[in-house]
Amino acid sequence: MSEVATIRSLALRLAREAGAIQRERYETSFRVDTKSASIDLVTEVDHACEALIVETLKRERPEDAILAEEGGGEDRAGAEWRWVIDPLDGTMNYAHGYPRFCVSIGVEHLGEPAVGAVYDPLLDELFAARHGEGATLNGRAIRVSEEQQLGRALLATGFAYDVHRSADDNVDHFAHFVKRARGLRRDGSAALDLCYVAAGRFDGFWELKLHPWDVAAGNLIVEEAGGRTSDFRGRRSPFDGRQTVASNGHIHDAMIEILRR
Ligand code: IPD
Ligand code: CA
Ligand code: CA
Repeated sequence: MSEVATIRSLALRLAREAGAIQRERYETSFRVDTKSASIDLVTEVDHACEALIVETLKRERPEDAILAEEGGGEDRAGAEWRWVIDPLDGTMNYAHGYPRFCVSIGVEHLGEPAVGAVYDPLLDELFAARHGEGATLNGRAIRVSEEQQLGRALLATGFAYDVHRSADDNVDHFAHFVKRARGLRRDGSAALDLCYVAAGRFDGFWELKLHPWDVAAGNLIVEEAGGRTSDFRGRRSPFDGRQTVASNGHIHDAMIEILRR
């Protein structure tokens, strides 16, 4: 097996294993703390998922760098491979018992996205991609939608945790798209939103102030499903998540036109 194939199967296995923890502990009682703001939550389950993934990687891939949202990673300068992990994307949903959350694992090779795995444990949906090899859902190839018109598009977005105090809050863009698109969803898991663009369930998605772990897997899955990702000026996504637009490609310029305002 090539190294990238080994990494892909490890990413898929870890996404499933962490997802199993989320499924088992869903709607049980667990500790919930806050982070950067009173609406920015972290639960015991986020930490448990991150520990499982990071400890396994440290054992099985000791040379690789790890960036993990809850801080358990290891920054190894010069590492060939870097794992970028959101152990539980959709924490607010999880804490409220709203059934939309996932595990997201992206892997970069020499700084370029190489592998992505996003697992929704309640629906048992595993989205995956490998650079140049296409994207899959539970092993079957997926593709972005063919929709050409923003007026017939179903879009998704989200809001950053500083929304209560920042003027750069996405509310203007939200208002514009509500008036222009067929429909707009705010469902609380950016990684799943991206995978839904890849699978043709959404035609487009945008969000401000995301982080690398929110988009590392999902951006690759969108691109491998034939879609486009960029910043708000249409430049190929720098993968840091600060400005993320993902679409089927056809409605991308129409979305950028609104986001540039
Ligand atoms: C959040 C979710 C949400 C998005 C936030 C993210 P978290 O991630 O992806 O949909 O709107 O901006 O921070 O905190 O649940 O991992
Ligand atoms: Ca996240
Ligand atoms: Ca998270």
